[in-house]
Amino acid sequence: MAKLTKLDDIVSLCKRRGFIFQSSEIYGGLASCYDYGPLGVELKRNVRAAWWKSVVQMRDDVVGLDCSILMHPLVWKASGHADKFADLIVECKKCNTRTRVDHLTDHAEQHTEHVSIDSALAVTHDLSSKICPNCGAIGNFTEPMPFKLMFETQMGANVDDSMTLYLRPETAQGIFTNFRNVLDSTRVKVPFGIAQIGKSFRNEVTTKAFIFRTREFEQAELEFFCEPGTDETWYETWKAERFNWYTNLGIKKENLRLRDHDPDELAHYAKACVDIEYKFPFGQGDWQELEGIANRTDFDLRQHQRGMRTLNSWFENSKDLSKITLASEADEYHKGPLSFFDDEKKSRYIPYVIEPSAGIDRSTLAFLVDAYDEEQVRGEQRNLLRFHPALAPVKAAVFPLVKKEGMPEIARKIYDDIKKYFSCFYDQKGAIGRRYRRQDEAGTPFCITVDGQTLEDDTVTIRDRDSMEQQRIAADQVKNYLREKLDI
Ligand code: GAP
Repeated sequence: MAKLTKLDDIVSLCKRRGFIFQSSEIYGGLASCYDYGPLGVELKRNVRAAWWKSVVQMRDDVVGLDCSILMHPLVWKASGHADKFADLIVECKKCNTRTRVDHLTDHAEQHTEHVSIDSALAVTHDLSSKICPNCGAIGNFTEPMPFKLMFETQMGANVDDSMTLYLRPETAQGIFTNFRNVLDSTRVKVPFGIAQIGKSFRNEVTTKAFIFRTREFEQAELEFFCEPGTDETWYETWKAERFNWYTNLGIKKENLRLRDHDPDELAHYAKACVDIEYKFPFGQGDWQELEGIANRTDFDLRQHQRGMRTLNSWFENSKDLSKITLASEADEYHKGPLSFFDDEKKSRYIPYVIEPSAGIDRSTLAFLVDAYDEEQVRGEQRNLLRFHPALAPVKAAVFPLVKKEGMPEIARKIYDDIKKYFSCFYDQKGAIGRRYRRQDEAGTPFCITVDGQTLEDDTVTIRDRDSMEQQRIAADQVKNYLREKLDI
């Protein structure tokens, strides 16, 4: 049973073993940006692959997509991000540190992105007893002010025709803007989903806790389109699907929970929303959002129909988003360009959307924390990562017991054979116990050792990471053994 880990243990293991490094470290680092090292990149690839397998590959009703990060500025007008996507912040008058108001109050994870900036400012916040997280001063804050979360950039080489663009703060909008393309180019019919994994960017006020909240991060989002009236059933289906995804990949049930949003916490577009929360070893009470599942209704497709109707005004106003008002909705909006025609029922409507939205980096952190374990073995501490085999960065390591008597050659041959199928590692350096420990710490489920007996009967030992038990099998059966055990 894994002990509850301190985040510092994970951070130091990640650096020591090449999972995750601070970005630009040789220049003193760049706050809240991280790089994935040799083991980390494999782990993250496996998290992505597991999500894609479960959400796209194993389903007949979901297709994939990969959209560009830069999109037409009107996308963000229509989605609401241009006018709403800001955090309410205050500055400590003593140390000048800025803090999110919701981090000082009860809703630890509630962005004001969901309400217009004006109505967020209209709410009174009593911060007189609140403590500055940086210097400890009590109630010594400025008035709340909005802080825009979208990163801006310029597109175009010439000053005259350059245009302000935004790095996308979520991948979802690329799915909505391609809804028509996917409908017209495939055989999908409502109910169906479009899934995407990709980078998103938010100029977060407070970043914290390693890769939990960063300014550049990866999201895995599904927009599942369904007929109005069936949305509540699909919402329940996806809640269960997504919860089970984490537990099937080894997250302990006691560390995972579903938390329904209070009505005042709901995003402007959502009819219902639930967070899958993980008990992280940090923060104000540990439970933190891992993934959100929202019933977004027909909000987004209707908004993009309004966005399409705003194009003329866009050109008339010199492509300046600040001068644009979103066009009103057409009278018969349900027959608009982003509607769906049901052949069987002969009816046309704007589909409702259920959106499970996960963070790849955040779930990678949860998988790391949950897998981390320490135990005493013969008076020595053993650190290990009990990863589910599908997530383990390296599936098997191959060792010759000693560097002589032909053992390295046999071990190399086994390694060369199985690396075609699994990500493997070969190591002939140092004491065998040390080599096992290094693989335990990397989360490698199996170690294969060629020893003296191999020379006599062509068998090798296979050691199980979790139980440390070893068994002998024929050398030519290693591939089949791993295939069966790893189920890949
Ligand atoms: N399209 C809906 C949406 O973006 P969200 O709750 O803002 O919803 C979804 O984000 C998920 O993306 C979060 O549950 C989290 O896993 C991840 N995420 C959001 N902001 C993040 C950040 N700054 N750093 C790391 N992951 C983040």
